[in-house]
Amino acid sequence: MVNDKEIEALGSILVNVEEPLRARFRALFTLRNLGGSAAIDWISKAFADDSALLKHELAYCLGQMQDERAIPTLVSVLEDTRQEPMVRHEAGEALGAIGNPKVLDILKRYSEDPVIEVAETCQLALRRIEWLLSGQEQWKDDSPYVSVDPAPPAPERSVPELRTRLLDESLPLFDRYRAMFALRNLGTEEAVLALADGLQCGSALFRHEVGYVLGQVQHEACVPQLAAALARADESAMVRHECAEALGAIGKEPCLRALREHLGDRERVVHESCEVALDMYEYENSGQFQYADGLLRLQGAQ
Ligand SMILES: [Fe+2]
Ligand SMILES: [Fe+2]
Repeated sequence: MVNDKEIEALGSILVNVEEPLRARFRALFTLRNLGGSAAIDWISKAFADDSALLKHELAYCLGQMQDERAIPTLVSVLEDTRQEPMVRHEAGEALGAIGNPKVLDILKRYSEDPVIEVAETCQLALRRIEWLLSGQEQWKDDSPYVSVDPAPPAPERSVPELRTRLLDESLPLFDRYRAMFALRNLGTEEAVLALADGLQCGSALFRHEVGYVLGQVQHEACVPQLAAALARADESAMVRHECAEALGAIGKEPCLRALREHLGDRERVVHESCEVALDMYEYENSGQFQYADGLLRLQGAQ
């Protein structure tokens, strides 16, 4: 039974800069799974931190919770230009995930943000809400994943056709994302290799989303492409971060090697991602009941 005290104990771990990042991540995921206004308040407080990795994950979790009480926090993060682009991006995407039309005006405004990742995110979030309003979400989504995605999967099933659309930079990002999520849902080696080709495309936002979905599919076929993107020093940190997490999710020996190599990366978001990815890997492979075990640990400590 979860009581306010336990939520408070988890929240205190989440906001405590003295705690190791991995413990704070586990507390965050437990709070996300518990939900409710107290959990949202604690997650909102943690935006005062200086780890972009942690803050972007806070915004991601608030979006995935799909609770409208998180809207004010997410709007203020999106508006705060002192926040890193990766964090503002995730706040915009989270507003799209919650899907309330009352944020349409704000998303329109930030669709023209000078930070391209933020602008593109808000354009996508707008399209998602408009799509929800069109009533098409009734259409059956056969996604095997529980995530709330920035675009619905395209209905097509042909990998060559979806690949062409994915890589066509003259198309709106929303349509290319639809192809991306359709390929992810197919999850075959051919589909995964098509997705990995997307790591060469022009938009950093697009490439980071490719990294994210490859982490969801967890197919070994794309390990060389993910490791190459992680190793590319001139690649955007947001993309390298997502590739690191995907490698952790796939968890084969070459993945772990690549992650260990970047534990001392110059880019803070990248070395923190490698640390968290290796921790998640260890947990998933140590017979632990679940990764988001903040509460279990808490109970164990009492
Ligand atoms: Fe993202
Ligand atoms: Fe991320």
